[in-house]
Amino acid sequence: MRKILVTSALPYANAPLHIGHIVEYTQTDIWARFQKMRGNECWYICADDAHGTPIMLHARQKGISPAELVQRMSEEHQADFRDFRIGFDNYHSTHSEENRELAELIYRRNLEGGHIVSRTITQLYDPEEGMFLPDRFIKGECPRCGAADQYGDSCEACGATYSPTELKNPYSVVSGAKPVEKETEHLFFRLQDFEEMLKEWTRGGHLQPEVANKLDEWFEAGLREWDITRDAPYFGFEIPGHPGKYFYVWLDAPIGYMASFKNLCEKQGLDFDDYWAEGSDAELYHFIGKDIIYFHALFWPAMLDGAGFRKPTTIHAHGFLTVNGQKMSKSRGSFIQARTYLTHLNPEYLRYYFAAKLGAGVEDIDLNLDDFVQRVNADLVGKVVNIASRCAGFITKRFGGRLSAELAEPVLFDEFVAAGEAIADHYEKREFSRAVREIMKLADRANQYIDEKQPWVVAKEAGSEAELQAICSMGLNLFKVLIGYLRPILPGTAESAEAFLKIDPQQWNDLATPLLDHEIGKFKPLMTRVDPKKVEAMVEASKEDMAAKPQKQEAKKEAGVETIRYDDFARVDLRIARIAKAEFVEGADKLLRLTLELGEGETRNVFAGIKAAYPEPEKLEGRLTVMVANLAPRKMKFGVSEGMVLAAGPGGREIYLLSPDEGAQPGMKVK
Ligand code: MSP
Ligand code: ZN
Repeated sequence: MRKILVTSALPYANAPLHIGHIVEYTQTDIWARFQKMRGNECWYICADDAHGTPIMLHARQKGISPAELVQRMSEEHQADFRDFRIGFDNYHSTHSEENRELAELIYRRNLEGGHIVSRTITQLYDPEEGMFLPDRFIKGECPRCGAADQYGDSCEACGATYSPTELKNPYSVVSGAKPVEKETEHLFFRLQDFEEMLKEWTRGGHLQPEVANKLDEWFEAGLREWDITRDAPYFGFEIPGHPGKYFYVWLDAPIGYMASFKNLCEKQGLDFDDYWAEGSDAELYHFIGKDIIYFHALFWPAMLDGAGFRKPTTIHAHGFLTVNGQKMSKSRGSFIQARTYLTHLNPEYLRYYFAAKLGAGVEDIDLNLDDFVQRVNADLVGKVVNIASRCAGFITKRFGGRLSAELAEPVLFDEFVAAGEAIADHYEKREFSRAVREIMKLADRANQYIDEKQPWVVAKEAGSEAELQAICSMGLNLFKVLIGYLRPILPGTAESAEAFLKIDPQQWNDLATPLLDHEIGKFKPLMTRVDPKKVEAMVEASKEDMAAKPQKQEAKKEAGVETIRYDDFARVDLRIARIAKAEFVEGADKLLRLTLELGEGETRNVFAGIKAAYPEPEKLEGRLTVMVANLAPRKMKFGVSEGMVLAAGPGGREIYLLSPDEGAQPGMKVK
């Protein structure tokens, strides 16, 4: 029995999960479930990545402590994971005592080994907020093309990269103040001390070949000292012996893998050193996205080596998710949050689709929504589940749920079992798309068997009871093997299938044993077809999410700076409207129902909370005002509201509707 520890990257605690994240957690979960099914001792752990400046500022803006924000987010993340059936054995946080102790230990050992040095550097500082500013929190004019509002490290307009001190007219995103240069003492980790070890390690079969090649480029560019320090105020762990200095979030983040495992050891009575001590015979696998290879393939093994711990067996990087061939986009509605997906669709569909596309490489994977519907319906509903539904009814109705005592076609059954080793090999090598292809070939074969035997014809012939039972029992036994092979990908469907077959959760070894003279339960449809309308609704809802929260401006919003870009403003469709009708709404205390004319015969129904200010609504009729014409329609108790009128004032009786100057016409755009 192998001893295996598996991790996925730790999601940041300042944002909800989206379906891009789900690629990684699905991939890791399938692999871990497969290992468990094979009878290995396998632990799949994860945690929230809780530290850093964005989280600190986000909490400040919400008026809560970072610890509280992190706690809330962790609960949200865990609910999403649970509902996608990501089966972690432990979920912890980098903001934990275990992690503090381990981070201090790894730091101290590296310090004693001479791998940590101290230097004074100059950084931009916000004099109003009293804090040093990370590059992302400084903006100004691009030194090359002069574009306004560019981040401290690169220009979105011309692509130039530079240091934040080169920006013209720089300002702090946190306070708006002009940053000043200030000296500070920082600790650095000497990555170059590990060059020999790393060169050998990266060529030692611990990385995918394309990743190892990428590392060669980094070696050529030269390994440099890594700044592991951040000055207060910072949400993280204070560095022992350096008051006011904190470990940079990426120092303690990977140590979070160890901390989560340590936490599990305490709960389960496992031996931590068994898995982490130098020379351990346990296997350690990190699944990550291609964007964080540098941290995992260079800094992490170096830190572990410097502290006398074992290094990972393999780091497995995957590509990024695109939707309909393009980067996930909020305006197209393809930036889909995990929760939005879950409110519209069955998680097993997406698990299957990702599995059908995932290989061992780092290529990006595409979720094409039409293909998604077509593929899930054809494969899972049309092929796999169909086998059971074609056979189960006869067994229930005609044979009291009892399967026959012998297999009708033992050779065919053996073929199905024999295919298992190749399928297992594909799973082991993370070639899930190949595993899926093999399984679907078998599903085709099973359907072909049923087509040939035509149980629905046999059922009508007198005296062929035994034959009918034999055919359907054979079909269900083939189904049992198939659903076993799919179990790592479709844990929920497999569980329902096992309940219907009245069997224990299947281990890989159980797949070779047919069900004979065994009573099964009543068949319930194991999965319904993907409804394309629900996919559309999910995309629509993702557009709304975004209208509620323009995330590109998040850094600024977090910081409480209230400026928006011109294109944000331009997205609001403001129009002149004529109030054709204004009336009370029965049962509503505050609302008036307005019928607004936008010209060219277009009218809108809008509910406005202005009743107290306009107790004689008919007086509003005929007057012009300004409305937001592209607000998503909102369902209210009294009907659908299709826009919003603009007014000023604190509320109640003091509300003043805006009016244009004379000459304005209904439908005119306000700019
Ligand atoms: N907190 C760090 C990881 C620390 S690990 C010690 C982080 N967090 S993250 O929330 O930004 O990303 C978590 C994982 O999801 C990363 O492996 C990242 O590559 C992956 N993905 C994020 N967006 C993704 C896609 N659009 N597609 C596929 N994977 C994506 O990085
Ligand atoms: Zn520029």
